[in-house]
Amino acid sequence: MADKINTPGFVTNEKTLHKDLTLLRKVADQASCKLLYSTKACSLSAVLRIVNRKVDGFACSSPFELHLVDQLRNSNCSLHLVSPLISKETLEEFGERLDYLTFNSFSQWKLLNSRVSAETKAGLRVNPQLSFVSDPRYDPCRQNSKLGVPIHKLAELFDTEPNSLRGISGLHFHNNCEGSDFAGLLATARHIQDVIPKVLHQVDWINMGGGYLFNQAHDYADFYEAVAIFRESFGLEVFIEPGASVVRQCGTIEATVHDIFESDDIQIAIVDTTVNHMPEVFEFQFEPDVLGHVEGGLHSYILAGCTCLAGDVFGHYSFDSALTVGSKITFLNMGAYTMSKSHRFNGVSLPTLYVRSFDGSLDKVRTDSFDEFAKNMGIPNVAVT
Ligand SMILES: Cc1ncc(COP(=O)(O)O)c(C=O)c1O
Repeated sequence: MADKINTPGFVTNEKTLHKDLTLLRKVADQASCKLLYSTKACSLSAVLRIVNRKVDGFACSSPFELHLVDQLRNSNCSLHLVSPLISKETLEEFGERLDYLTFNSFSQWKLLNSRVSAETKAGLRVNPQLSFVSDPRYDPCRQNSKLGVPIHKLAELFDTEPNSLRGISGLHFHNNCEGSDFAGLLATARHIQDVIPKVLHQVDWINMGGGYLFNQAHDYADFYEAVAIFRESFGLEVFIEPGASVVRQCGTIEATVHDIFESDDIQIAIVDTTVNHMPEVFEFQFEPDVLGHVEGGLHSYILAGCTCLAGDVFGHYSFDSALTVGSKITFLNMGAYTMSKSHRFNGVSLPTLYVRSFDGSLDKVRTDSFDEFAKNMGIPNVAVT
């Protein structure tokens, strides 16, 4: 597969994407909840076109994402915006095309509620103040969190100033990351039910966010129960908006080895990609899955990226056959938060985009160019000499 690809490359595999979406669709239907796709995980057209066929809508974070989705979505897919920053310009620009809108804070709601179109359902993000994420950089419920109205504050507001919440028709929460069972979601649903039952009786919908890997879970009972709490006890329309669970497994980064040398008794293999193409590898300091890696394999290497950063390394890998200059490396499970976070540090070009279609054929979608790099640097119309 890798030999037809100009590296560095990013390949979207339609079959895998379809398989993971089918599972999500089945679970959402079984629970009678609406399935949105959280565009931030990967907004490549190859992904959005397939996702479009299976979801009820798209959850976006910014005007750029909204415009992109708005151009590609089916007419029956709803458009949702949730962000710590919603501007009056965005509300003017999208007007009634926004189906659902979640304000992050009470102050944003107060500032902008009069500008929300009558066609748009406005909600408030609630911080359930229940943490499941050990790394505070990724914990929406961390101390002094900027994400959502703290649940006890919301309960107090409802009791003391109920009129100030008039016009809010829904709630949104998102408080996990990489969850592979739904115990945290169920605990959160029960907690919300206990602390703000009056608010739940007042609203029409709730969005339970993303943060769960549906394709790694073995049991969906807690998920079904969490949805049922809101649907059956409060009559709410329930949404989920997974990102990683939809796209993680359908994307690979393809690379070529360009140099091999020894450093402190270990072989270093330099590849033509970098952690800047997969920034979460660096942020989380994890070793991405590599095709052909075998624990205890005969030939061991540190696979390293091609930029000047000393820490631009992927980790220790072993293979049954020795790598040589020209060997191809495939980084697996790279579909989520890869192309949406990838950047050109050191001027290294972005990966060339490919799609592996259902019939197995491979199509090139886009090659990065010096022209694009120069434009991003504020230099239009510069020629390569
Ligand atoms: C508000 C919100 N919804 C959905 C998601 C998607 O989460 P995941 O990709 O973990 O499913 C995120 C991720 O950060 C988020 O912040």
